[in-house]
Amino acid sequence: MNSKKIFSILTASAMSATLLAGCGGSSSSAAATSAAAASSAATAAAAEATGNAAKPLVWFNRQPSNSSTGELDMTALNWNKDTYYVGFDANQGAELQGQMVADYITSHGAELDRNGDGIIGYVLAIGDIGHNDSIARTRGVRSALGTAVDDANGVNAQPVGTNVDGSSTNVQDGSIEIDGTTYVVRELASQEMKNSAGATWDAATAGNAIGTWASSFGDQIDVVVSNNDGMGMAMFNAWSKENNVPTFGYDANSDAVAAIADGYAGTISQHADVQAYLTLRVLRNCLDGVDINTGISVADDAGNVLTEGTDYEYNADQRSFYALNLAVTADNYQDFLDATVTYKPVSNQLDAGTSPTKKVWLDIYNAADNFLSATYQPLLEKYDDLLNLDVEYIGGDGQTESNITNRLGNPDQYDAFAINMVKTDNAASYTSLLQ
Ligand code: BGC
Ligand code: CA
Repeated sequence: MNSKKIFSILTASAMSATLLAGCGGSSSSAAATSAAAASSAATAAAAEATGNAAKPLVWFNRQPSNSSTGELDMTALNWNKDTYYVGFDANQGAELQGQMVADYITSHGAELDRNGDGIIGYVLAIGDIGHNDSIARTRGVRSALGTAVDDANGVNAQPVGTNVDGSSTNVQDGSIEIDGTTYVVRELASQEMKNSAGATWDAATAGNAIGTWASSFGDQIDVVVSNNDGMGMAMFNAWSKENNVPTFGYDANSDAVAAIADGYAGTISQHADVQAYLTLRVLRNCLDGVDINTGISVADDAGNVLTEGTDYEYNADQRSFYALNLAVTADNYQDFLDATVTYKPVSNQLDAGTSPTKKVWLDIYNAADNFLSATYQPLLEKYDDLLNLDVEYIGGDGQTESNITNRLGNPDQYDAFAINMVKTDNAASYTSLLQ
């Protein structure tokens, strides 16, 4: 059996394990049952909802869920009849990222083993150990590289700290055959990139971490992997670029895509152009009182329409729209250089007569988050014009929910809300203000 085959089998079994954890595109039957129960409870609540509690609400980027188990917070997802989540398919993206790294290793062969010790060593930057997307990506990479071990929740996604000797119980050594020689694949180090003030996915922390790792075991690092491009680019600029060590991220931010020309090895587009559209489009449809699929699976009067199954998926039990991901590598990066261009099929201006201006309150959990500030918000600002929405953008500090909720002092001023939480468990901090 060739190594590619081993990789895909490992990936497939890991994917079924991740699905059980309930984060991402599909639901297990247990999750569906509890979703149905929660949804009838919420229907009763929704019938009574009035005032701010009845206004359209979309959660985005951080799905209301238990940060330890990944279980979805169906109370928050069913807050009222006009509540949805918009994100992307975390499992499909994680599988793509893992496969991209695995393919690179098999196709670049023995030249990757920089110190010739027979081990392909990689380090991993983890964004937030309690965030569905981060957990899925850590699992996807470990599964594809054969370093995954199972724990009670599926594939173990805990950081190893340092594991240069291969003794960590959060991972195992994988093995891979390159040109007839078997190499060990080892996760040499990984940590959650959280700064001292508490902000997660922190690029500066990742830039420092690679410096620390490189000075103690630098020649053992053959590959650098990150849960996102913000951290990946910090590591690339601090160390891997000048040492020619392939570095992989996630998000396809414009700076990361441009860096592919300088040796950044690859990233994943989570189709932010589709997500930003959906975030505002579901609010628009609820405000207009039209079918939720208008301009989504069904063309609107202006001709906007997405393709279900290619651009996105909808999971009714989870009240969630998930954009689909695409791998961006040296082969196709030219098509992704500007991450802030609206998606052509949904770039038509709505008529202000039928869709009059409405006010939306929207927060970004951390104004310094690379993906949200450099890719997502610029897209939102283009779509808000096209959809006739007057959006007030609030940028949080990435650390405390109250930094954001303090600025939702007067919800009466707004017609709808779009919420990006600091922590996925904290939906009630927002909904309590709408009650
Ligand atoms: C992105 C990260 C970002 C995080 C914020 C993820 O989906 O990939 O780059 O930091 O969302 O919640
Ligand atoms: Ca090596």
